[in-house]
Amino acid sequence: MLSIAIDGPSGAGKSTIARALAKELGFIYVDTGAMYRAIGLYVLRAGGDPADSRFVVPCLADISIALQYQDGSQHILLNGEDVSEDIRRPECSMASSNVSAIPEVRSFLLGQQRGIAQKQNCIMDGRDIGTVVLPDATLKIFLTASPEDRASRRYKELTAKGYHMDFEELLDEIEKRDYNDANRAAAPLKQAEDAVLVDTTGNTLEQSIAQLTALVKEKLHDYL
Ligand code: DC
Repeated sequence: MLSIAIDGPSGAGKSTIARALAKELGFIYVDTGAMYRAIGLYVLRAGGDPADSRFVVPCLADISIALQYQDGSQHILLNGEDVSEDIRRPECSMASSNVSAIPEVRSFLLGQQRGIAQKQNCIMDGRDIGTVVLPDATLKIFLTASPEDRASRRYKELTAKGYHMDFEELLDEIEKRDYNDANRAAAPLKQAEDAVLVDTTGNTLEQSIAQLTALVKEKLHDYL
């Protein structure tokens, strides 16, 4: 099976770019952040603190996460309920970052993530795909952009959905999440040694998609 691992900080455009690439190549797209977000959502709904492992770990016994594809787009089911929209709520961002620092949460999802990549050609995005989940991925990409660029993309996305956010607050949250994700002990956000670094600062989305498509076609030339 072929697999492309795309890692990088939040808001670098991973999911939009990965989705477009998956469509172009006929691979499935797996957004692993959505899985952490679903666990964060469960904990918020249960009234717990997503950073408190004593609360979160016992919850795992009551959580089942499933991915479904409808017209090529990923839907995430939390105990059978489609929560694809709910997990995008701003409060789920920090909650997912907090639960993702708990080793038991990571091992809970690891087997499922690897199982998907064993069955089909996929593009998987996250923070630790190239380093931990798929260390033998056919191609690894580390996608990044300046915090200001990433906050400004997130700002546009959220305001388009009707959320009223303060730009400085969003920037602050992005920086906090970067810090959280890169400094945790368990599978921190880190560029794999054999990953290609792509910085999309200043690019339009179309430019980034074109750049990544060219890169993938060049690197996977012998396989496609
Ligand atoms: O990609 P995202 O912003 O939807 O991810 C939400 C959080 O989940 C992110 O702050 C860190 C965590 N995450 C992770 O730890 N490992 C992954 N492979 C994917 C996401």
